[in-house]
Amino acid sequence: MGDKQRFTSSRKLDHLRICAEEDVECGDAGFEDIRFVHNALPECDMGAIDLSARFLDHTLSSPLFISAMTGGHPGTKDVNARLGRAAERYGIGMGVGSQRAALENEALADTFAIVRNEAPHAFLVANIGAVQLRDHGIAWAERAVEMIEADALAVHLNFLQEAIQPEGDHNAVGCLGAIEELCRDFKTPVIIKETGCGISAATARKCWGAGIKAIDVGGWGGTSWAAVESVRADKGKTARDRALKALGQDFSGWGIPTVVSLAEVLATGGPVIASGGIRSGLDIAKGLALGAGLCGMALPLLRPAMESDEALASAIDAFHRELTAAMFLTGSATVADLRKAPLYITGRTRQQIDKDNPARIRR
Ligand SMILES: Cc1cc2nc3c(=O)[nH]c(=O)nc-3n(C[C@H](O)[C@H](O)[C@H](O)COP(=O)(O)O)c2cc1C
Repeated sequence: MGDKQRFTSSRKLDHLRICAEEDVECGDAGFEDIRFVHNALPECDMGAIDLSARFLDHTLSSPLFISAMTGGHPGTKDVNARLGRAAERYGIGMGVGSQRAALENEALADTFAIVRNEAPHAFLVANIGAVQLRDHGIAWAERAVEMIEADALAVHLNFLQEAIQPEGDHNAVGCLGAIEELCRDFKTPVIIKETGCGISAATARKCWGAGIKAIDVGGWGGTSWAAVESVRADKGKTARDRALKALGQDFSGWGIPTVVSLAEVLATGGPVIASGGIRSGLDIAKGLALGAGLCGMALPLLRPAMESDEALASAIDAFHRELTAAMFLTGSATVADLRKAPLYITGRTRQQIDKDNPARIRR
């Protein structure tokens, strides 16, 4: 393994440890500003509520999606195995983390392939960065999909993180063209995914125009890569490390809150995955009621996945219980019913999504 490959791989382990051990959550995704209208006469049976959801021609047992997190270092394989087993057991979808490390070094492919071994029937999403796609083309996209026999490919956008990482890719020119070229020839559906800064209506329009099949908003208000990179820089001792730490802190407030991004993207098309700061089954219910097809969670599942299968199952059970209760109390027997449930949008979120708000600058 060369130095570059070793570095990509060890960074994956750093990220996992930092996310599991440090405070890396910033901001407000906007879910507090959403309130359901309580239905005092729900006329449905809580025991018979159907959580199943359709997404990209797949039927999933629940709209909870395990967002992309890991793989790419031998120390991440067990976590991916646990997440895969949970995806299979619950019939839910799952994304793997960026497959770059295994595309650079085939010996790491098993840290991703384990997910398909553990989840032979699950809806699985492969993952590469837009910069890697631009630099290596469709060949890497194909290998990423083959590695886990994926049902879809997420191309992630993480330019905030790249801007803060000293070793980051600082040139974003040509990524949209690469996505367009990929979508022209690729058989597997392509999803565009942010990683914590959200997607605007303008960016969404460009992506739909390029031929993508879904968007994962990856909005602000949950795990912050500015915070993660700031913590990472804090472990170094040089003046450059101190400058990077400050840069990360300054930009921890950067991004479009998840609920705002969801509204922006849904105004341009769909299907859409809501993710970024979803922290409960009630947040999942709100995401669905706002129009999301699935709701992704990363950090809330990471800590239990690092612990045990039981811990992960009990976290998922709790989220499902909360989602079921919210469906019951809005009189929603199915996810389709929940999408029609009335809600209030208040506070800053309302200001940001109100198209008649004079403070909202549209370009
Ligand atoms: C440990 C960790 C690793 C991640 N790695 C990736 C990645 O490789 N590719 C990607 O697209 N997103 C990655 N993400 C971002 C998540 O998929 C998600 O978009 C983001 O964390 C927001 O969700 P959350 O607030 O529920 O954590 C990672 C998140 C975590 C916590």
